[in-house]
Amino acid sequence: MASEENINALITRLNEGFGDSTLIKATLSNKRRKDSDLNNVFIRPVVIRGEAVLQFVYRYATKDITTNYSASDASAEIEKLLAGSFLNADLYTSTADYSYLSNRKGNSRLLKKAPSSTELPVYRHDKIKRRLISAENNIYLRELGVVTENWKVKAGMEDKFRQINRYAELVDDVLKTAALPDNFTIADMGSGKGYLTFALYDHLSRNFGKPFSMTGVELRPQLVDFCNSVAEKAGFGKLRFITGSIETALLPSIDVLIALHACDTATDEAIFRGISSDARVIMVAPCCHKQIRKQLNPPGTLREITRYGIFAERQAENPHRYPSRHDTGSLGLQNRSG
Ligand SMILES: C[S@@+](CC[C@H](N)C(=O)[O-])C[C@H]1O[C@@H](n2cnc3c(N)ncnc32)[C@H](O)[C@@H]1O
Repeated sequence: MASEENINALITRLNEGFGDSTLIKATLSNKRRKDSDLNNVFIRPVVIRGEAVLQFVYRYATKDITTNYSASDASAEIEKLLAGSFLNADLYTSTADYSYLSNRKGNSRLLKKAPSSTELPVYRHDKIKRRLISAENNIYLRELGVVTENWKVKAGMEDKFRQINRYAELVDDVLKTAALPDNFTIADMGSGKGYLTFALYDHLSRNFGKPFSMTGVELRPQLVDFCNSVAEKAGFGKLRFITGSIETALLPSIDVLIALHACDTATDEAIFRGISSDARVIMVAPCCHKQIRKQLNPPGTLREITRYGIFAERQAENPHRYPSRHDTGSLGLQNRSG
């Protein structure tokens, strides 16, 4: 068969594989000119900014050059490379392998073989992160200043966005295994500006599959008013914020008690409130520990470890581990149903 027909057949197979996600990779080899600096071209499907494209890595003697093509541009490029630079091409899909072999006289063959791998390809460029909280169309994230009007995470808010996502994952893991009643209640003690409260409500209301309501309890009334207005804009009908203290806020029942970075001894008060309310889950991540800090008085040379404020704070947090205040890895979890 003429080379052109075989090249077209090869490109058709590659496009089919790209279209139905069975394409694994392709390689162009056996260069036409031995003095050419370009030794191979490696092709694989990748996803970049949500769009599937074909990535070509041009392997030169001393460097790689990477270019991404749409399917139609990739077809034209392969045609050009097989006409001018390479004699052979190998195409790997999860349903079959194909080898295109040609010589300088213009003869060619296209061979079909059993697939060397049936593992379905994962179309990735950079590792695509599974995010429970999406930046897209999330009104509360915009109101809280985490994303722009165009739903892009704002410069400087990337850590906050990562933190709320990690937090949703952590709580999700705990709540999945907790024996929670229908219409369970969550109290978020010391909810502050509500970043984590909104994120958890958002995630659970979309994915948890059990009805619930949530209350943020906060000492500062301005924050409570702000959060209630954001909840209304976001259409979060079962989320409300009340002004009050962890110890005395009026709550009918508490199935899940959360207190994240509540100041000084507020975490102790939250634990007490959770136990006395017979909460099924208590999740706390303490903060600042002023009361303990004042009592730290290490002897002799150990005094150095509390000499600076930041060191003293870390010592007060946990003598074995020194997480940052916003590291949700510092969450102390207690699942009372387990
Ligand atoms: C550091 S902020 C944390 C906010 C939020 N939980 C977070 O992790 O992003 C602590 C919040 O707890 C509130 N707070 C401190 N003690 C409290 C108490 N006893 N009762 C209610 N709120 C309290 C403070 O006003 C502050 O807004």
